Amino acid sequence: MAVADDVFASYREYGREQGYDLRWLERRDVWGEGVSPRSRAGVLLQDVDHGLAAEVPDESRNLTGRPRGALPRSGVARVGNYPVRTKADVWLRNGAELYEEAVARQWSSATDIPWQAITSLPDDIERAECQLATFITEIEFVAGDVPGKWIAAITPDYYEPRMFLLSQVMDEARHLDVFRKRALVNGGGLMRRTGNPQVVGAVIDSARDFTEMSARLHISGEGAVLTLFRMGELMAYNDAEKHIYRLCAQDESRHVAFGVMHLQYLGSVETDRREEIQSYLDDAELALVTGASGQNPVARGLPSNAALAILLGGGEANVDDGYNTLLAIRQRQVKEYVQRVRVAGFGERFENGRANPMLEQYVQAH
Ligand SMILES: [Fe+2]
Ligand SMILES: [Fe+2]
Repeated sequence: MAVADDVFASYREYGREQGYDLRWLERRDVWGEGVSPRSRAGVLLQDVDHGLAAEVPDESRNLTGRPRGALPRSGVARVGNYPVRTKADVWLRNGAELYEEAVARQWSSATDIPWQAITSLPDDIERAECQLATFITEIEFVAGDVPGKWIAAITPDYYEPRMFLLSQVMDEARHLDVFRKRALVNGGGLMRRTGNPQVVGAVIDSARDFTEMSARLHISGEGAVLTLFRMGELMAYNDAEKHIYRLCAQDESRHVAFGVMHLQYLGSVETDRREEIQSYLDDAELALVTGASGQNPVARGLPSNAALAILLGGGEANVDDGYNTLLAIRQRQVKEYVQRVRVAGFGERFENGRANPMLEQYVQAH
């Protein structure tokens, strides 16, 4: 609440008489420019951030942790030597909106899943559920750890993507815990970790550039998992499992949207990096058609692949039917990947022969 000018002036005068330096009390140039809450959504970052606070520099020299829009102060020590301080490297349109959505849609694995709906299942189905849940727990760990390492690398001037990544880490912790609970809640237990010789997530984790990490994690890895979660109805045996897949898919769609929107921004402002981005997509496609990344639960050769076939087929006796459904899921993964890359502005690879030929067969044949 703003005080009247004469009251403000008298306070300041009183302070000076007492020997205090009250220059910090000077009013900012945005004084009096408040915002009203939206009727249902309340006060949102994208609304409240206006004027100076909304001015995002193309390059940031803010190494002192100064909040964007606050006045600098001389003599303050540097608190970070942020490697990510070029806007194009990390920015996306609507980052604040995505963050607000993440906050508004948090859920609890303890109370938002109707766990009581899980009853005794045939042994082969329960073991398959537990194997799949074990593998997903493993990849969710990577999905939290990797963006987590980048948060403190980003200058506070780009706080929107920073805070979105913080929300993603919370989401991934919840995914990790909900699948851990599923493995243990019905007496099955955690099963074998992946037998793939490659450490799960190693390629994503070795990325030295934020956009490289985002392309490998948000678009490639999480894109494939999102498609699988969206088809959760096919592999769920009760309402609890349906809820798990539905709620996780809701979160994953935000993570994938972050990657798509970031790639879209970077590709439009730094055209000299487009070829580099295409090379990340080359890798993403190789992983998609061969399972080379070791992080796609649907990929051949992983324990989760066989578990999925049992769940989708309805038991070990019908595993062949399950593998047919898995093929349909892989096809859908490819279709959704193509759609995301088009939205991100890199669709020319599907027209000019750059895309992986095996991928093109999927796209054209289905
Ligand atoms: Fe996740
Ligand atoms: Fe995710």
